[in-house]
Amino acid sequence: MKKFLLGALCGCAWFAHGAFATQTVTPDLSLQPLPLQAYNRAATSLNGEWKIIVDPYENGYYNYRYEPFDQQETPSQNAYFTDSKQKTPGDLLEYDFDKSASLQVPGDWNTQTDKLYYYEGTVWYRKTFDAPKAKKTDRTFLYFGAVNYRADVYLNGKKLGVHVGGFTPFYYEISGKLNEKNNSLVVKVDNKRHADAIPTLNTDWWNYGGITRDVKLITVPKTFIRDYKIALASLTDKTVTGAVLLDGAKGGEKISVKVPELNIKQTITADKNGKANFSFSAGNAELWSPENPKLYAIQITAGNDKLSDTVGLRSISTRGKQLLLNGKPVFLRGVSVHEEYSARGGGRVKNAAEAQQLLNWAKGFNANFVRLAHYPHNEDMVRLAEKMGLLVWSEIPVYWTINWNNEATYQNAEAQLTAMIERDKNRAAVIIWSLANETPVSDARNTFLARLATTARRLDNSRLLSAAMEKHYRADNASIAVVEDPLAEHLDLVSFNQYIGWYDGAPEKIDRISWEINYNKPVFISEFGGDARAGNHGDIDKIFTEEFQENLYIKTLKMLDGIDGFVGTSPWILTDFRSPRRHLPGIQDEFNRKGIYSNTGEKKKAFYVLKNFYDKKAGQQ
Ligand code: GCU
Repeated sequence: MKKFLLGALCGCAWFAHGAFATQTVTPDLSLQPLPLQAYNRAATSLNGEWKIIVDPYENGYYNYRYEPFDQQETPSQNAYFTDSKQKTPGDLLEYDFDKSASLQVPGDWNTQTDKLYYYEGTVWYRKTFDAPKAKKTDRTFLYFGAVNYRADVYLNGKKLGVHVGGFTPFYYEISGKLNEKNNSLVVKVDNKRHADAIPTLNTDWWNYGGITRDVKLITVPKTFIRDYKIALASLTDKTVTGAVLLDGAKGGEKISVKVPELNIKQTITADKNGKANFSFSAGNAELWSPENPKLYAIQITAGNDKLSDTVGLRSISTRGKQLLLNGKPVFLRGVSVHEEYSARGGGRVKNAAEAQQLLNWAKGFNANFVRLAHYPHNEDMVRLAEKMGLLVWSEIPVYWTINWNNEATYQNAEAQLTAMIERDKNRAAVIIWSLANETPVSDARNTFLARLATTARRLDNSRLLSAAMEKHYRADNASIAVVEDPLAEHLDLVSFNQYIGWYDGAPEKIDRISWEINYNKPVFISEFGGDARAGNHGDIDKIFTEEFQENLYIKTLKMLDGIDGFVGTSPWILTDFRSPRRHLPGIQDEFNRKGIYSNTGEKKKAFYVLKNFYDKKAGQQ
């Protein structure tokens, strides 16, 4: 039995955290190597209108000799990040943020203006703001929820750093770097794809560029609560363990931890590294589950700093082929989800209301699980799933043909994995970290992913590891589908994508297939499905009709339900979504049409097949 209790503290990153490595030209020394729990902190939002300059030739970054301005001792005023103004009538300046166009933050640029719908390149963003009220001794952090893909960040003409990775938070300490009035924050956002990046050149989702999540200023006292971890350490005696990490501590500081509803109030003392552990018995605490997504308020106080949050207590484990939630077998009635608000015609989800809409649609067919593909979604999505009783699979975009032989690529993947785990390690709903999706087997890929698995377990050994692997057929018998992948030994859940009846033969083939999956581990089918244009009807053998998709679901669910150790599935996909690979006019029109809902939320016939199957499964639990 492999027990994974949320909160096995030895796995916390703080205790084993290496330096943060990002794929940058100059190591980003100002990037804080430690997490910053920012979601519930009072903050000054920098969301809203930002001025922009679309700069395909990166004219604001390189001089005409193609030398980066920001490597110059005194950058020329032609460098856009200096946000210069014409000083004299004769001043030659060929840009002016104040007179330029604007975009909304958060939000991708592709769906804000037709001119940028297909754009892949650099867009400069500029925001001016006054310094938030703060005491002299206070510290200020600039926090980005995510920027896709590379962000070069400048404050008042000085470079703060570079971040790569389009779906994880990052931040810079800017204490002492702010003017009282009229600060200029300039971000060079570049969403160009690269073979050595994570993800790599080819994906089946739209390469939305921009400052796609919140930007905010967080002011904290000189010594503040940087991070914490809490969770259930034992299902039997309901022991809860946790840790708090102070930044700016000398050691000896008193920290109060309260869980009022459990009558817990503890005072612990920070060691010289600012760290303090705690534990208590949660006695009659209600365990978090999809049926009862019970959350407890937690208040951590240190000096004049206070961090509040809500947490669930639960255990996730495997026992042979069984998946156990709070010690009982659980079936994952799932669906895969892209972070795209398709009802608006596409575009990255940009607020909690849009995230709520997607999760409500998942609840529509009695889901208790969402596979947030293929990258970490925004924090609203994860926290709402937790409130709504949806278990979560969270994933880094190690997708398809990654450059397994490039160390910088590995460092990038590891940095994204670390940031994903650091941000969501206290979310009870998250039960699976996924390392990869449909990556071709090779020695280099096996080594790369085994390293990632080791890092994931070091950061957090309280959750299950998985990845969407692939299947093949027995060489001597084409009706036996096999899941056999060296990666499986590093995983707790054997997950794979299969498209028999869509990419692999016609639906009638499904009835002829049996499965060979020789692992004593639970089996999860992370994708199946087929395209249907909503409202397009015909016989079941007419491709792209709702009837075709409906029949595919009926046959596939029957086949999967016969697999030994079958603990759930997340059909591909909740709603139609924009893809640069799907060009069939009148049917796809640059949308992948495998949605159970259309991109405007219409239920296709497959919706009812899935709901019926999940209602039965729910009744059996
Ligand atoms: C793959 C992949 C998805 C893709 C889907 C499809 O399995 O994981 O990202 O969109 O198949 O082809 O529709």
